[in-house]
Amino acid sequence: LLGGLKKLEYRGYDSAGIAILEDGKIEIAKSKGRLEILSDKIEGGRSFFGTVGIGHNRWATHGEPSDANSHPHRSSSGKFAIVHNGIIENYAALKAQLQAQGCIFASETDTEVIAHLLEQNDTGDFLETIRLTVAQLEGSYALGILNEEHPDEIACVRCASPLIVALSDGGNFIASDITAVLPYTRRIYQLDDGEVALLHRDHVSVYDEQGHRVEKELKTITWSVAAAEKGGYEHFMMKEIYEQPKAIRDTLNSVVKDGVIDFTDIDLTEEEIKKYSQIYIVACGSAWHVGVEAQYVIEELAQIPVRVELASEFRYREMPLVKDGLVIVISQSGETADTLAAMRMAKDKGLATLAVVNVIGSSIAREADKVFYTLAGPEISVATTKGYSAQLAALDCIAVQLAKVKGLITDEQYSYYISELQTIPDKIEKILQDKERIQWFAAKYANAHDVFFVGRGVDYAVCLEGSLKLKEISYIHSEAYAAGELKHGTISLIEDN
Ligand code: F6R
Repeated sequence: LLGGLKKLEYRGYDSAGIAILEDGKIEIAKSKGRLEILSDKIEGGRSFFGTVGIGHNRWATHGEPSDANSHPHRSSSGKFAIVHNGIIENYAALKAQLQAQGCIFASETDTEVIAHLLEQNDTGDFLETIRLTVAQLEGSYALGILNEEHPDEIACVRCASPLIVALSDGGNFIASDITAVLPYTRRIYQLDDGEVALLHRDHVSVYDEQGHRVEKELKTITWSVAAAEKGGYEHFMMKEIYEQPKAIRDTLNSVVKDGVIDFTDIDLTEEEIKKYSQIYIVACGSAWHVGVEAQYVIEELAQIPVRVELASEFRYREMPLVKDGLVIVISQSGETADTLAAMRMAKDKGLATLAVVNVIGSSIAREADKVFYTLAGPEISVATTKGYSAQLAALDCIAVQLAKVKGLITDEQYSYYISELQTIPDKIEKILQDKERIQWFAAKYANAHDVFFVGRGVDYAVCLEGSLKLKEISYIHSEAYAAGELKHGTISLIEDN
């Protein structure tokens, strides 16, 4: 298990844990931080005895990185232990229900509700218990499940999160990614949404959503270990570009409930929104470009004046700040020094702060008055792609909600904007399917020395990001210009090619 988790480290994580079935009892070890910390805690695995177990590297989405929030999570009696990749969107309602029935929660995660539901739905039939449980879940999940009453089994089920079952002569495995099992086998089943697999040492049974046995096609993996780590993509940046639809979908789903935007989790009330007479957006780099886009959208829809400030300038500038202004800081990492310092300065001056952050428990997330988490997942590639896209979706949600609360858009317009936002992931997927056309375009301009990105309004904001990405990744000199501004001098640089 530790070896498998080591292979999955490249995906980014903030804590790790394992559960082992030892003499019919589930033993759990978990800890915040690097895998080595967990490994030291259990003497490299030697303090556990057993051949049935599950492990997990966590990337926090609900609740900060901590020992308690790390997976595996247990049911109340401790009989079930689970690991989970994905996001349970209706976890708050399920948690409230379970708590009303006397269930005590040990973590702040969305995952823990699943462990308690398994216990509540337990019929003694492992497969049926799982089917009853997942029927209550909304969102995405790949689950690995241990059950003390079935000490020779591991169960798994998936919906919209990757999960494979791998077969070997010495035993069978489940994993969220092929990389984890490549040292042992290359023979795998790829589970489809709704399918449940029950693994024994010498055989695996797969069932569909209705509980009927299905025969899966056994696939043999030919990828090298390095290619497998990137899910078959050439590099992490390409992988993350393709993860944009999911990043946006997850971010939107975290705040759009039954067709309306719900900021209860962010704790941003209508009274507060009505009070803000000025918005300052403070960020660096690509996150600042998101701010430039948001300025157009917020000012147009919500009629609130917006200033977009580079954090590195804002923190040193002497400027009068409107007391009932809201400072929105945007940061993928939540650790960018200038953005953090700028936010602290704004707080010191008594302004309200709202952070749009991707990394849970990061400094900016901890110190901001309110946090809107983008759910882009870990960004390994240094140049941001899916993080940027998720930030745009988050800021657009904020703009639409501000406009609604201030009574500046009709109910029809409100619904229209939300449903349009929800179409974006599919649209991005469609664009990305056209890889050949994008490659043709890139090949045509790969030898350019200077590139100008020119656009107006929100297109200008997108130009800023396109230009940064081009120079950062291709080392081609590039500038972004507001279309109307190009003629005021810079046009003298335009030449053939
Ligand atoms: C460019 C890029 C950077 C970041 C900037 C802010 O591709 O990734 O410009 O956007 O350094 O980082 P965060 O969002 O982590 O504060």
